[in-house]
Amino acid sequence: MTDIEQTPAWRALAAHAQASSHADLNTLFAQDPARANNLRVQGSGLLLDYSKQRLTPETRDLLLELARSCDLPQAIAAMFVGEHINKTEDRAAWHVALRAPRDTGFPDEVHTEVHKVLDAMAGFTDNLRSGLWRGYTGETITDVVNIGIGGSDLGPRMVCRALAGLESEPAVHFVASVDPQEMHDMLSRLDPARSLFIVTSKSFTTAETLANASAARDWLRANGAGEEDIAKHFVAVSTNAQAVADFGIDTANMFGFWDWVGGRFSLWSAVGLSISLALGTENLRELLSGAHAMDEHFRSAPLQQNLPVMLALVGIWNRNFLNMPSLVVAPYAQRLEHFPAWLQQLEMESNGKSTAADGSPVAVATAPAIWGSVGTNAQHAYFQMLHQGSDVLPVDFILSLAGDGPRRDQLVANCLAQAEALMTGKSAAQVRAQGISERLVTHRSFAGNRPSNMLVLEKLDARNLGALLAAYEHKTYVQGVIWGINSFDQWGVELGKVLAERILDELQEGQAGQHDASTQALIDIAKRPADL
Ligand code: F6P
Repeated sequence: MTDIEQTPAWRALAAHAQASSHADLNTLFAQDPARANNLRVQGSGLLLDYSKQRLTPETRDLLLELARSCDLPQAIAAMFVGEHINKTEDRAAWHVALRAPRDTGFPDEVHTEVHKVLDAMAGFTDNLRSGLWRGYTGETITDVVNIGIGGSDLGPRMVCRALAGLESEPAVHFVASVDPQEMHDMLSRLDPARSLFIVTSKSFTTAETLANASAARDWLRANGAGEEDIAKHFVAVSTNAQAVADFGIDTANMFGFWDWVGGRFSLWSAVGLSISLALGTENLRELLSGAHAMDEHFRSAPLQQNLPVMLALVGIWNRNFLNMPSLVVAPYAQRLEHFPAWLQQLEMESNGKSTAADGSPVAVATAPAIWGSVGTNAQHAYFQMLHQGSDVLPVDFILSLAGDGPRRDQLVANCLAQAEALMTGKSAAQVRAQGISERLVTHRSFAGNRPSNMLVLEKLDARNLGALLAAYEHKTYVQGVIWGINSFDQWGVELGKVLAERILDELQEGQAGQHDASTQALIDIAKRPADL
């Protein structure tokens, strides 16, 4: 692959970064009264204000030139027509087809299949919620547990929490970890006769998920359910019908999807069954329609007015030209508390790679570390470092304006104040002017000039949430295109899985394996914890 660093567009940005390295945000705002208006973009109910980033309209134009030189418009079109953009696995990454209404330009067979599954999910949701579906003692289902991990957990878990308040019976829970404690703690709260498990796994080979599903099945049996009863308490979401049947789940109770749906892009597929059960079919459809609106915006808006594109380009600027190693995400909406974990998988599993799609090494830095948590709690934890730490770490603030009254205003004020404080800082002169003792002046000064994005939603409803999630999905793809990465595979997770199986055998069978001295010593300790 072309060494991107040597391309004219990249070199122009590198030179511009060097020339503007002393740019100060406060000065930039003072020099350009239109800055706040010029450096913002709106799409599908979302506003992105990136005027507090260390860039100028010239930077933006150079970034847009980089995007064009990487054939971004063609790459966007390729995704929508189902080209095999997941090159290493030779398949499409077609999650946009999952949220398209009927007859919106996708091939008939795709529409038909997608809507058949959505209809089946709606039917099942109605049956379960109306009490038609009953457990082995004839009682209705009050609790549903989604058993899955990674993309089969993080998306639906985050959405169910984000839209809490819309939910009604059944209560929907999530179990992901292979730590038996999580399933144990969950089961101890449930009534077996009134619980249903959704085993969600694209591959249906994921060790954690199968272990948890087996534990749930054993628990049902131990509580008096016979073999023929199990079907009333298990459904599956998967692409692997054979493995579902082998596990003992009736494939009549399986909701399928397709290999062109990547795990971390799958909440829009049957993986969203838990969303449908928790929130109802209508809210799931609203979520899909919000995502579809963002898809249409992404597909058709000019690059400069394209929200996911600008979100991605700002990220490229920070990562590659200002050398910022991480991105903090701080949603000012308590119900988005699982958003950072979802985003971590999305961006870091997609673009945490050093090999380009054609197998050559990527010459530049790729995915930053994504981390964060909800404001205002974060302000009382790690924001100290964001304001005064030795690294400059950009922040994506996500602000929902919903609600009214003083509590809502307090939340909004906190969010805006943090972004303002990061940027404006507080000079030594300002500190002195407050009459602060000279001994504390340096401690109480803030350098400022710390960048952030502000993403604003009118309210956190299903539609806006769909648009927000789709925006970050597309951002991730755009960055992958620029870095020359295939954002849709995840070979980096394989080695650890293989080694875990080997170590598991050794722990259980007792035979010795071949490991480095540290790992071997730790295996020995794990075999005899009492020696510690
Ligand atoms: O190990 C990583 C991964 O493959 C993710 O990409 C995926 O979301 C997760 O495991 C779960 O996979 P599955 O849905 O096949 O159980």
